[in-house]
Amino acid sequence: MRLLKARRSIRRLRPDPVPRELLIEALDAARWAPSAHNAQPWRFVVVTDKRVKEELAKSMAEAWRRDLLADGVPEGKVRELTGASIERFTKAPVLVLACLSMEGMHEYPDERRRRAERIMAVQSVAAALQNLLLAAHALGLGACWYCAPLFCPDVVRRVLGLPEDLEPQALVALGFPAEEPEPPPRKPLSEVVRWERWRAGA
Ligand SMILES: Cc1cc2nc3c(=O)[nH]c(=O)nc-3n(C[C@H](O)[C@H](O)[C@H](O)COP(=O)(O)O)c2cc1C
Repeated sequence: MRLLKARRSIRRLRPDPVPRELLIEALDAARWAPSAHNAQPWRFVVVTDKRVKEELAKSMAEAWRRDLLADGVPEGKVRELTGASIERFTKAPVLVLACLSMEGMHEYPDERRRRAERIMAVQSVAAALQNLLLAAHALGLGACWYCAPLFCPDVVRRVLGLPEDLEPQALVALGFPAEEPEPPPRKPLSEVVRWERWRAGA
């Protein structure tokens, strides 16, 4: 309980490299997550090469820049946001891209069940990601889950040479922590849990 409550999203990382054994241990924990049909629909790409990190960071920032400008965000603000993003991803010692693969998931003729099946795969990848974050924390590493690849999957696919059937889901930046953030507030249990029925008398 202590371990899982003390995990934080660590956005500032020390530049020191992460020993490969630690990385492998954290990735190994990810693969022990529960998954629908035990299909283990997660795939990971580990990026440590500075040039690859930089190319990925710049390409994702360019896609984000286009979105922000289309939203009417002023040029200066766009430069500030995308610059910070490039720096964050390039300076992280390790980036782990988590992808979804529908291999081993069930196929259905109808959209309703296809959609449910896809959600199950997404949920499974999320479970693996949580294992990865908790394992990183247990091993003394800092990590943060970033959603950026979801918004520009084709850019990520091109830069990292992913096959068409791998869907980028999230990027986890890993390294030794350079900050100890305060825990962000949690909604009280009473707001998120109801017993027996959501609405009494339903
Ligand atoms: C699906 C998902 C997407 C997230 N995307 C981002 C992100 O793009 N940038 C970021 O700084 N943090 C991101 N986070 C981290 C959350 O902001 C963080 O988990 C939340 O604020 C609670 O803080 P904690 O992890 O320290 O408990 C993401 C977390 C999840 C689960």
